[in-house]
Amino acid sequence: MQYIDDSLKGKRILITGGAGFIGSNLALYFQKHHKDAEVVVLDSFRSETKFSNGNLKSLGHFKNLLDFKGEVIVGDITDKEDLARLEKRKFDYIFHQAAISDTTVMNQEAILRANVNAYKDLLDLCVRSNASMIYASSAGVYGNSPAPNSIGSGEIPENVYGFSKLMMDNLTMKYLKNFPLLNIVGLRYFNVYGENEVYKGKTASMILQLGLQALKSKKVRLFKMGEQKRDFVYIQDVIAANVKAIHAKKSGIYNVGSGKARSYNDIIQCLKTNLGDFEVEYIENPYKFFQTHTEANIVLTKKFLDYEPRFSLEVGIKNYLSQIKAIHNANLWEEVLGN
Ligand SMILES: NC(=O)c1ccc[n+]([C@@H]2O[C@H](COP(=O)([O-])OP(=O)(O)OC[C@H]3O[C@@H](n4cnc5c(N)ncnc54)[C@H](O)[C@@H]3O)[C@@H](O)[C@H]2O)c1
Repeated sequence: MQYIDDSLKGKRILITGGAGFIGSNLALYFQKHHKDAEVVVLDSFRSETKFSNGNLKSLGHFKNLLDFKGEVIVGDITDKEDLARLEKRKFDYIFHQAAISDTTVMNQEAILRANVNAYKDLLDLCVRSNASMIYASSAGVYGNSPAPNSIGSGEIPENVYGFSKLMMDNLTMKYLKNFPLLNIVGLRYFNVYGENEVYKGKTASMILQLGLQALKSKKVRLFKMGEQKRDFVYIQDVIAANVKAIHAKKSGIYNVGSGKARSYNDIIQCLKTNLGDFEVEYIENPYKFFQTHTEANIVLTKKFLDYEPRFSLEVGIKNYLSQIKAIHNANLWEEVLGN
């Protein structure tokens, strides 16, 4: 998919969280389609440190960037010195993806520091450098509010991750009021799946988890009865939304999803169509909080970003399956399923 656009010629683009799932896809997209832009990736990268839930603190992995030819900076967005170094580079665009993306982390202090405080520091940097900010918000802000989910209603997060993203969106509105010339676009991603998510481990999408379970054991496990619905959105649509945000008709906050809620049983059906039959075991759901129905209202995203999702669940999964098979064949499934 190519957007003919030379408006980024000579522009300096920073991608925070660029070694992660969505950030690395963005970096590789700009490298391929905007050869005249300078693309810099900043990420804290994977280290040995873990949260109390057993998951790694930083999910960025160098292997997501094997094809990246630009500059890579190891840095922490919560570190003022790292931020001061960035400021000297005079970026034109910041695609801010860095965050504690693990929704099961309970450490409120760590999440709010990384997701909210650091975002404010980056916004201040944008004000001083006149840079545009395009950042990742999340459908987590809607908690368990009834779908379809629309900007400005039902914003009642159920976990601290969702709360942190809502606080980022609130900051955005405050900055847009105080600095009317600033360009800020917040993108509330729904359930993103696709290439380069394997190093998210247990927090990777259900599409990767179920695909790998089916390949490995010919059997998958779903919470009863698999009819919970989510808005699953393919990575290429998410990248397109970020690119479209460069030319947003209006700064603000927008939903990024497929616009259609689909069930876990629908995923199973797509996988069976491509992989052949396998067993499905339905188990009790141990989680007190579990979103049962999310669906992005994308009317405003279409209107102001000119965004149009192009991948149905069927097409997205079909596209993705060659990488899911490669992950399985390389025994990388352990990253996601454990051993
Ligand atoms: N994947 C989804 O379904 C989804 C849905 C909604 C929102 N989001 C948001 O999109 C963004 C990207 O998510 P992702 O799925 O690519 O997750 P990811 O964890 O793969 O990417 C986040 C990256 O940020 C880096 N990072 C974390 N803390 C950092 C810090 N303090 N300094 C520098 N780098 C740091 C990590 O190493 C990682 O590479 C995140 O903000 C996430 O909250 C993702």
